[in-house]
Amino acid sequence: MRIRNIKNAKEIVNNSKYVVNDFDNYKYNLNKLFKNNNPIHLEIGMGKGQFIMKMAKKYPNINFIGVERYDSIVARAVKKLEDSNLNNVRIIIMDALNLGDYISHEIDTIYLNFSDPWPKKRQAKRRLTSQVFLNIYDDLFKNKKRIVMKTDNKGLFASSIVSLSNYGYVFKNVSLDLANSDIENETTEYEEKFMNKNEFINYLEAEKD
Ligand SMILES: C[S@@+](CC[C@H](N)C(=O)[O-])C[C@H]1O[C@@H](n2cnc3c(N)ncnc32)[C@H](O)[C@@H]1O
Repeated sequence: MRIRNIKNAKEIVNNSKYVVNDFDNYKYNLNKLFKNNNPIHLEIGMGKGQFIMKMAKKYPNINFIGVERYDSIVARAVKKLEDSNLNNVRIIIMDALNLGDYISHEIDTIYLNFSDPWPKKRQAKRRLTSQVFLNIYDDLFKNKKRIVMKTDNKGLFASSIVSLSNYGYVFKNVSLDLANSDIENETTEYEEKFMNKNEFINYLEAEKD
């Protein structure tokens, strides 16, 4: 994602009630963050937050956490969130590699939307569906493991299918043209860009016991 410097990004995220700036206080206790026991869904690489906001509005009885590693991107999401009055969304500024240090057996679903493709072979470990990340996700999930992924990138989609399958996930739903399928869907910022260029969106929903 192109990151344009946003003025006062640090200040915006530090002052937002939507950004968890004191995550140490909620370590392995995310329910405390939402003050209820509703299921928790995680979007990794949430970008500017359109998807998570739409999902939170649509499903008020699910708690949503967006994970994003850049302040400047989160600052943009925060601006929209502050006007929304949603109380079932929070944002964590962190590299997904470190999630296991804070979350343990609390998540029901992980969304990976238009993740960076890292196309070169030597970069394969950085893909959010590599064995490195699937290993981390294992300890985040509460019971059944559920990953929902969409991407325009055929190479990333193919490598994700292989990686998830090798790791024991089974596919509950797959589409090579999400926009023309009957799968319920909320769009992301990237998705809309690709749809405007008439590109196909790949979708998968995978589960593991
Ligand atoms: C291509 S953008 C997609 C943004 C959004 N999901 C969408 O569909 O519009 C990928 C995003 O994932 C974030 N990201 C990539 N790797 C990450 C990681 N390891 N941990 C947290 N965020 C990550 C990037 O900073 C970027 O904002």
